[in-house]
Amino acid sequence: GHNRTFSVSSAFEFTSNLFPLSSTTASGYARIGEAIAPSDPATGLGGVSLEKHKTLTYLNGLSLIVGLVIGSGIFSSPGQVITRAGSPGASLIIWVIAGVLAWTGAASYAELGGAIPLNGGPQVYLSKIFGELFGFLFTWCAVVVLKPGSTAIIAIIFGEYLVRAIVGAEAESVNPWINKGVALFGLLSVTFMNCLSTKLGTRIGDMFMFLKFIALLGVTIIGIVVAITGYSASGEANRDWKTHGWFEGTSTDISSWAVALYSGLWAFDGWDNTNYVVGEFRNPGRDLPRVIHTAMPMVIVSYLLANVAYFFVLPLDAIKSTNTVAVLFGAKVFGTAGSLILSLIVSASCLGALNATAFTSGRLVYAAGKEGYLPSILGKVGVGNQVEHPSLSTLRTRSWLSKKLAVLFGDSETGLFFTPVNALVFNALIAVVYIIIGDFSTLLTFYGVAGYTFYFLTVLGLIVLRVREPHLERPYKTWISTPIIFCCVSLFLLSRAVFAEPLQTLIVAAFVVVGIPIYYWRVRGRDQMSRRQGENGERPWWKFWKR
Ligand code: ARG
Repeated sequence: GHNRTFSVSSAFEFTSNLFPLSSTTASGYARIGEAIAPSDPATGLGGVSLEKHKTLTYLNGLSLIVGLVIGSGIFSSPGQVITRAGSPGASLIIWVIAGVLAWTGAASYAELGGAIPLNGGPQVYLSKIFGELFGFLFTWCAVVVLKPGSTAIIAIIFGEYLVRAIVGAEAESVNPWINKGVALFGLLSVTFMNCLSTKLGTRIGDMFMFLKFIALLGVTIIGIVVAITGYSASGEANRDWKTHGWFEGTSTDISSWAVALYSGLWAFDGWDNTNYVVGEFRNPGRDLPRVIHTAMPMVIVSYLLANVAYFFVLPLDAIKSTNTVAVLFGAKVFGTAGSLILSLIVSASCLGALNATAFTSGRLVYAAGKEGYLPSILGKVGVGNQVEHPSLSTLRTRSWLSKKLAVLFGDSETGLFFTPVNALVFNALIAVVYIIIGDFSTLLTFYGVAGYTFYFLTVLGLIVLRVREPHLERPYKTWISTPIIFCCVSLFLLSRAVFAEPLQTLIVAAFVVVGIPIYYWRVRGRDQMSRRQGENGERPWWKFWKR
């Protein structure tokens, strides 16, 4: 007997039937990563599904993570971290802690991604481990706030830096609507490219990754050269790093350290994003951990070097009092041209992060549409309510230009717009609303609390899964200390937030609670539909586990 209502136990039954799948079942359901869409015996093609076109490689994953994680943070927040930590030495320690925390989280997610190689990230893990309600609540928060919220924040920062590059020092007096307009332009361009072609999106990502490393490497080298020669555009060399002790003034207040850690965490945020697209990896079990274990140390080291370079070049007080440390760095070394170049670099870096965020957010919305949490049109590939496979037949009838473009982007097999267009546009539209009405400090706190609640739950889920299903096939297994460290530190951070920001925490909690009735409404609707279709003798795709 199969339960129609989705209780925790039936969700578990559902998932435990699903996940041991390793071979093609008699009824024609393909391998695990493709299980989402039943295959069509007539064409052998199966439902149109992104997971059937596994295009992502190790390098794509690397540039996705690096491109998303290196965004605005390292160019903006070092000042806040130093102010809270009290000394440059202590701030470096904070950067290491934040980075290692992100790394342990990412390693834990890599284990889950290998064991459950489906698109959607925590949505599928939480459903499997704690029941579908949890997966739904994650999706609810992620789709409505976390993803479009972070998209909006990065877009705004992109806009601010680009405007700064154009108008220079007058940037403070520019009408904020100009910044917002530039932010919208950036968001819409990036969304369009990602709609056009998966390959184009990832290629843009690859390009930005190199740019970011070159930028951070450049900052480091300049810092070292300046430290040796004592050069500065104004002729006034910075001696702070020689005269001021590295640990002089270190804060002894634990809550200052916690706040400093929060500021640092934004710069490392985004480490979970490969997990949203696991289903599109050619070899997730092998490549996901490889991506994490190269990307995270690379990011940590380059952040530390950049921080040291800032301290070599800028007086401590100047670092503490700015939100745009990189621009100040450029001005100090190269004068006006330097601040222009650095503003451009930071805005490009944000654009890269925006591109990667658009890419993965679209996949999350798409997974939610497929799952029946959101209108099913969002779970479609291609423009509008396209049901047919857009490749092959349609490609032949497409215009010369679109064929040439498809070949150029490497999408000749699928044609252009073989992407979750509706989902990408949906995410962009919500982000547009945030950009227009957004209050970013509120959004950022909300982001931190809600985000870390789900990070915590997901990593806790890894531990639960180890106990409950020790024999589940895990292509990659992290040390058990990894999730434990992550859980302890994130619990500490969350408990601080409850006391420091009780109102915000309450709003987050209320928001999550609102998701519960919506869950019952969506799942009821979905099950009713499945009953109706069941009477027609047709099995809906989400009942594929039922023989
Ligand atoms: N780490 C990025 C930065 O420093 C922000 C990433 C935002 N998170 C996300 N999931 N998009 O700007």
